[in-house]
This record gives sequence, C-alpha cells and structure tokens, in this order.
Amino acid sequence: MPQQRIVLANCEVIDPRDIETYVGRGGFTALAKARDTMSREDVIEAVKASGLRGRGGAGFSCGIKWELAAKTQAPEKFLICNADEGEMGTFKDRHILANDPFTLIEGMAIAAHAIGAKTAYIYLRAEYHYLADVITGAIDQARQKGYLANLDVQMREGAGSYMCGEESALMNSIEGHRGEARFRPPFPPTEGLWGSPTIINNVETLMNIAPIIANGPDWFSKIGTADSKGTKVFSVSGDVARPGVYELVMGSSLGELVTDLAGANGVKMVQIGGASGKLIPGDALDTKLSFETVLGSGAVTVFNESRCVIDIVHRDLEFLADESCGKCTPCRDGTEAMVEILARMSKGDAMEKDIGALEDLSQVMMLSSLCGLGQGAPIPVLDSLEHFRDEYEHRIARSQLLRRLPGSRHP
Ligand SMILES: Cc1cc2nc3c(=O)[nH]c(=O)nc-3n(C[C@H](O)[C@H](O)[C@H](O)COP(=O)(O)O)c2cc1C
Repeated sequence: MPQQRIVLANCEVIDPRDIETYVGRGGFTALAKARDTMSREDVIEAVKASGLRGRGGAGFSCGIKWELAAKTQAPEKFLICNADEGEMGTFKDRHILANDPFTLIEGMAIAAHAIGAKTAYIYLRAEYHYLADVITGAIDQARQKGYLANLDVQMREGAGSYMCGEESALMNSIEGHRGEARFRPPFPPTEGLWGSPTIINNVETLMNIAPIIANGPDWFSKIGTADSKGTKVFSVSGDVARPGVYELVMGSSLGELVTDLAGANGVKMVQIGGASGKLIPGDALDTKLSFETVLGSGAVTVFNESRCVIDIVHRDLEFLADESCGKCTPCRDGTEAMVEILARMSKGDAMEKDIGALEDLSQVMMLSSLCGLGQGAPIPVLDSLEHFRDEYEHRIARSQLLRRLPGSRHP
C-alpha cells in the first residue's frame, strides 16, 4: 500500500491542545536523544544521511543546508518554520498545524540545537489566524514543560501575500519590510534574517525531523526512491470524489493518489504544485511522484474532461500576476502580458502570433526573474502548449473564422 504515516502519524490521534497526549506517545524523546546523546554534528550527519529533502517546493537537501548555517561563524542564528502556505490548492500544512503542532515544535527544537539558533519563528499564513491559538498554546506548553530549554520560539502572522512564502520575501516580512524578493547570493544559511545565518524550512520538512532522530537515518532512507526519501503529504482537490490530505511513500504513482485514493474519474489533466505547477495529462497517471519526476509543494489539482485548459492556465497566470511582488520587470510585466494574451484567447479573440509570444515571454521570464515566482510562472503555459497545443490552435482557427464574419468587432 503506498500510504504510510510518518508526518501525519499523530494527526487525529493526539489532542493538539494537550501536550500530555503527545508525550504519552513518545513525544519529545527524540529531542532528549538529540540534546543528551548526540553532538550538533551528529544530528546534522543523521539528517544528511536520511536523505531528507525540503518539502516546500525546491527539494534542497535539508542536512546540507543545516550544515552550512552551523559552520557559519556568527553571534546569532535563526530558525524559521515556513507555514505561509499561500500556494493555490495547498492545504497540507494547515492540516498538520491544526492537528499536531507538537511534532513540529519538537523538530524545530532539534533543528535549532543542530544549527545553534536561540530564536525560532513560525511564520503563519495570515488566513490561518484561527490556528494561532493552537500554535501559541502548544509553544507555551512546551516551554512550561521545559522542552524548549533556552530556545525562544515565537509565532509571526503573515502579511496576506503568496509572495511572503518565498524565503527572502518572508525574511523581509519578519523584519517589517515589504514582502519583496532579495537578490541572491548571499543565501539565508550564511546571511539571512537581520544579516545572520538563518535556516528556513517548510512545516512538513520539520515534521520529519523527530521521527528521523528517533528511528535513525537508515530507517528513513530505506523508504522511497533513490533520490526522494520518506513520504510526501499531498493536498488533493478539484474534480475528485474524496478531496483531502494524503501521505504517500515517495515514488507512488499519480494514479494511486488521484484515482485510487481521491476517487477521480475521467481525468483530463492534473496540476501538481499549484499555480506554477506542472501539468500532467490524464493518460500519464502512471507518473511517479518524486523529486526525480514531479512533486512541488504537494498541491494536486485534478481537472476532468469538461475543463478548458486555456481557461485553467489563464486563471493560474491571473493569480501569479496578482501575487507578483513587482520588484523585477520580467515577472511583473511578463505575468501581466501573459494574462492579457490568455484573456483574449479565452474570450475567443486569439491571434496566430499568440503561441510564439507566450513561448518567448516564457524564456525571458525563466532566465531573468529574480525568484521562483517569475521563474516558475511559465511552467503551466509551456506544459499546456506541449500537451494540449491543439486546444490553442483550435482557439486561434476559430477566432480567425469569427473575424471574417460580416460585422465582426475584430476586422
Ligand atoms: C512565490 C513562492 C512562494 C513560496 N511559498 C512557500 C510556502 O508557502 N511555504 C514553503 O515552505 N515554501 C514556500 N516557498 C519556497 C521557499 O522559498 C523555500 O524554498 C522553502 O521554505 C524552504 O524550505 P524547505 O527546504 O524545507 O523546502 C515559496 C517559494 C516561492 C518562489
């Protein structure tokens, strides 16, 4: 069976408002093991050996990132848990935070111990304000029980922008500035929050830390594929009978997730990774879910045969244009130009040059945008042109025909 619960092991089992229910299931023993029996280097080696890669989208090695921050000499270091989760169709972190804030706090305490951070932040999506009580309550209980030792864990509420989930914009937001991307290098592990070494990890990444320390890196690295270890939590929505949050072993197939578990039928395509996610056509449901193939943040949106691909891509780009921080021209103007073309196509006023224009814009944006928003925005455009080009061509041919009709508004 592809489902295995590592990250979600305590969800809907413990009471998120009562630390004793977590302690009763072995909670905080991994932290004690890390602090009392392992050096900082041992902890980092274990995370490296486990093969854990970041679950926030980019898939960078968690242990290597930690090592970089640990080795950087600085009077102060920070840890940030990225719980901004603004990606379209992503709601797995919300499920985790609502049901098991304790495993997250334990993972954060282990991470802070490993890199030498004395202050840690949970950056919570603004729209998840209703979860603030559960999270601060869990932090307070962990502090009162002495689990945090001298680590100061604080919660910061987000600024209501998708862009603030991007790590450099997130740091600007915590510092009280506009949530705009920063130029890199320097990268956060050497120069991040207020210029100090900073580790930023996704909620799900940090949820894996306590189980890895408790069970050992070999246990973890035996689960999954060659380059994608462990499990992945997905939020499935769209044209499915059973939308929700599912945790699957890395390397499971897309069909096992959307058809067997979520009950999809007549799938035209699946978008994986939100608005800038890849488009997988319905005849490729045997695609493996792993970093080697396709993964992203874990948003899986299913579209059935009744859906129009151009309309879907138009909606994706509208979202990205709205959310672009506007700092760099390729992203700010490129997403707007794409929206303009796709809106015209959606209305039935497509032109022959539109496909070439979308492809040219895509190249420029991917090569020259400042951050992942602009670099990733062309992905659904290019994927739809690869898999569903006939829909674009049909739209163009139909528009040309309409223009030739007497009385047309577009001569
Ligand atoms: C526009 C944009 C939004 C992002 N939003 C999030 C987010 O909400 N949560 C998240 O963990 N990572 C998000 N990321 C990725 C982060 O920049 C960063 O790579 C991640 O937090 C690193 O954590 P990880 O190594 O544990 O994956 C976003 C990236 C971009 C470009």
